[in-house]
Amino acid sequence: MCLNGKHILVGISGGIAAYKIPDLIRRYKKSGADVRVVATANALRFVTPLTLETVSCNPLYSDVFDNREPRTTAHVSLAQWADIFVVAPATANVIGKFAAGIGDDALTTQMLAFGGPRLIVPAMNEAMWHNPIVQANIRTLQDIGGMEVMMPATGELACGVSGEGRMPEPEDILTATQDLLTPQSLEYQSILITAGPTVENIDPVRFISNHSTGKMAYALADECRARGASVTVISGPVSVKAKHSDIEIIGVTTAQQMYEAALTCHAKNYFDGVILCAAVADYRPKTTSGSKIKRHEQNISLDLEPTKDIAAALGKVKRQPDEWMLGFALETNDEQVNALKKMDSKNLDFIVLNSLRDEGAGFGCDTNKVTIFTRGKKEGKELELMSKAQVAKAIVDHIVEHKNK
Ligand code: PMT
Repeated sequence: MCLNGKHILVGISGGIAAYKIPDLIRRYKKSGADVRVVATANALRFVTPLTLETVSCNPLYSDVFDNREPRTTAHVSLAQWADIFVVAPATANVIGKFAAGIGDDALTTQMLAFGGPRLIVPAMNEAMWHNPIVQANIRTLQDIGGMEVMMPATGELACGVSGEGRMPEPEDILTATQDLLTPQSLEYQSILITAGPTVENIDPVRFISNHSTGKMAYALADECRARGASVTVISGPVSVKAKHSDIEIIGVTTAQQMYEAALTCHAKNYFDGVILCAAVADYRPKTTSGSKIKRHEQNISLDLEPTKDIAAALGKVKRQPDEWMLGFALETNDEQVNALKKMDSKNLDFIVLNSLRDEGAGFGCDTNKVTIFTRGKKEGKELELMSKAQVAKAIVDHIVEHKNK
């Protein structure tokens, strides 16, 4: 998921976890965001202005009387500039000031001036975290609209003991920031996704499979989840992982197992949409040898039989007109004709064409180049080569746009 063009204001208060914030800023920048930093005097005892200005590529704001922009005051202009205000680490002291509405330095006045979404990331010693006053202050912040408090992690703390109070890792703060900036266009919706390859055994040693890594499907699962949907993924064997632990993963190996899992899951639950992204084997060995097939100096033939078509089977039981289904077409020739035929024969509402003739598209890589076709329209929406996370975003945007018409 990208943060292209987003303005992120990072607030740092004086805790040891401040040393991780340059890494967080670097991740925001890598995701396409512009970052500005406001820090307390104590934060600057843990991390230097030079480091923060170098990684953010912007001047640091730490003095409430900073007058670099003479026509306005920094806390007002930054508040207008930022799309989100992320305070990490948030110490017990700064949380107390936020809860009481105190503005006595650059960070806390900034909080009072800012009206957009705020992400507060507490980090402190376990005893301080469990202090009833701190907990009461946390509840006060949670009751304020637009203020999200990320719960601290459990682990080794700077004071040498292990416990609750540790700042979540920069990667998790990045994901939480992305979630807060993502429109909840799939809120209260349920989405079923098939993902990855299937594996069909020839004997205990060999199998038939394909190059799917699951990256495209899991990027779609993450995007749907970030937009508020509850997501179930029926996944062939992959090493990629979903970003959110509340994405339900049902692991399968063969095309037959994926078929049974998908049909059962679909019959038992109410889904608003289904995304068929798995690269399912079209054929499997008619029999699987119980022992390793021995090598001889002559040709052998494998008797293959067709597998069941999951997309077509779900297309038959789709609830018309409120349930939508989106399939993928992986092609090497006559791309558009084949994709449109598949959309029709499987009763899909959308089909996403990726061609192995396009460099950087399809299997394995982190990018894809796709054209999205909508039922009833001959012309597709052709997208540039982009990351699979960006493709997922564009696909979900397309679905939301067309389903709300
Ligand atoms: O996993 P990655 O490495 O990120 O690669 C992504 C991808 C290339 C696998 C993905 O973008 C993709 O194109 N997935 C579909 C691959 C495929 O099998 O396409 P197809 O044209 O053979 O199938 C058409 C549609 O029918 C697909 O939605 C497929 O999931 C579905 N199908 C096919 C056969 C079958 N037995 N059951 C099915 O549901």
